[in-house]
Amino acid sequence: SSIKWIEAKDYEDLSKKACDIFVEQLQNKPNSVIGLATGSTPIGLYKELVQQYHSGNVSFKDVVSFNLDEYVGIDPNNEASYHYFMNHHLFKHVDIQKENVHIPEGHSSDLETACRTYEQQIKEAGGIDLQVLGIGVNGHIGFNEPGTPFDSLTHIVELTQSTIEANQKYFEKPEDMPRKAITMGIQSILNAKKIILLISGETKQEAYDRLRTGIITEDLPASALHQHPDVTVIYTGVK
Ligand code: GLP
Repeated sequence: SSIKWIEAKDYEDLSKKACDIFVEQLQNKPNSVIGLATGSTPIGLYKELVQQYHSGNVSFKDVVSFNLDEYVGIDPNNEASYHYFMNHHLFKHVDIQKENVHIPEGHSSDLETACRTYEQQIKEAGGIDLQVLGIGVNGHIGFNEPGTPFDSLTHIVELTQSTIEANQKYFEKPEDMPRKAITMGIQSILNAKKIILLISGETKQEAYDRLRTGIITEDLPASALHQHPDVTVIYTGVK
């Protein structure tokens, strides 16, 4: 494994270190294709990026983005949707162009076509230059739950109980949380040229420990990253 491990002092430091990598990427290639993640972990990164944008250090004018995943059957205006999350934390604060933003269409009436179209769009954009990832308590990346084949492309998934329990808090009524999602596959993630994985907090201790062993297994979706040549893990709050 060629994973580079960087320990951050705290969450703010983790967010800044991740932001530095993005700023460098966007300065070197203003029309970069970036892969974005949701969840609580990258919120600090997005906050830093908005600040960098306001300071004039970075522009999203020519940036193309692809998000990892979205719930199935959720209205994009629902505050728990990943569409809403991305607008709220990043897109509405920067100069990214609407037509350059891609988020899987969990609200589509033809999900199979939505999956295929998404892969096609990534390909046509030239592939993802820089992908940011969080990690689930069970080691999932995107919504690729344990057991997902490493050669998977964008597909529909059945969420596991541990994921439902971890994410229910974002829904006004917990029982409203969808049981399915649309996610880029593990192969779609590995196709990115460069990957940063952010790990923050003690709830991720077990996933972190298992990733650290270097054992590659479908039981730990994140372990697929050992097979990628350019992965940086930035972590804090784990021992
Ligand atoms: C969700 C997302 C993942 C994310 C994970 C961890 O299930 N689909 O992309 O990495 O949760 O979320 P958090 O950062 O809130 O722990």
